[in-house]
Amino acid sequence: MIHATLHQLKVFETTARHSSFTRAAEELEITQPTVSSQIKQLTKAVGLPLFEQIGKRLYLTNAGQELLDTCQDIFARLDNFEMMVADLKGKKQGKLKLAAITTTKYFIPRLLGRFCQIHPDIDVALQVTNHEQIQQRMAQNCDDLYILSQCPETIPLHTEPFLDNPLVVVVAHSSHPLASKTQLPLTALAGEPFIMREFGSGTRLAVEQLLATQDVQVQVKLELGSNEAIKQAIAGGLGISVLSQHCLVGMELSPELTVLDVEFFPIQRQWYVAHLANKQLSVIAQTFRDYLVAKSYDLQTQLVATATKV
Ligand code: PGA
Repeated sequence: MIHATLHQLKVFETTARHSSFTRAAEELEITQPTVSSQIKQLTKAVGLPLFEQIGKRLYLTNAGQELLDTCQDIFARLDNFEMMVADLKGKKQGKLKLAAITTTKYFIPRLLGRFCQIHPDIDVALQVTNHEQIQQRMAQNCDDLYILSQCPETIPLHTEPFLDNPLVVVVAHSSHPLASKTQLPLTALAGEPFIMREFGSGTRLAVEQLLATQDVQVQVKLELGSNEAIKQAIAGGLGISVLSQHCLVGMELSPELTVLDVEFFPIQRQWYVAHLANKQLSVIAQTFRDYLVAKSYDLQTQLVATATKV
């Protein structure tokens, strides 16, 4: 392996990622014969086949999989090194890979916008997904930082809480029969058509846990995979639902939704910024995490202002 070059490792990593010589050649802007010859030389240096072709598909062998893990580790370290060198030169430059829970779309993109204005040489990739998929991304070490409200117990993480995430019961408008009542028992929800988030959603998990511990059942009439779709469904009179208070920031623009006063609500939760416990954060990821924590006071103030308005 001592004779393998960084270029050969890059060609191998790209081919393995795409499972295709053609796509690797396209991404690297080299010819397909060059890809084949680089892989051939690398295979010779390793002394074992790295790929096997079955039908039209290209599969990694065990040695190929081990080499891919090693390459990803090497390239991540080199990226971190480049970012650190840029930092030593007084410049924040590099890539930031974030994965955030769907409900964070009410504040993370705006924060990122301001962060990128301050650091124009930082490129950001943001994946917005639900808790179930975020766990899969963590298991594959896909991102630098994760923003979520339910930290999985099975994956060792370093977590830092930075913001409240209260879940509230929302109905269509103030003319709803329950809207004028206070201190409603949880059983009051049982008689209402209920709109539930999709399986894998943290909001759904929190609601199901509360209902199960209090032995209350609701009639789920509709299951939707987006907070915005749920807001529209509530406004259209299809039922009631539980949403994060963050979904209601800026609700003065659509005042038809009303928050009910129901026992056990708001369900008090927190947003966390997390990273894999054994992962060394890049300078860029540390800079964003510090920025997020520094901005949490402003975000909390906006949230409290919403709670008093809706
Ligand atoms: P969700 O998460 O968007 O996956 O429902 C929000 C939350 O956990 O509060």
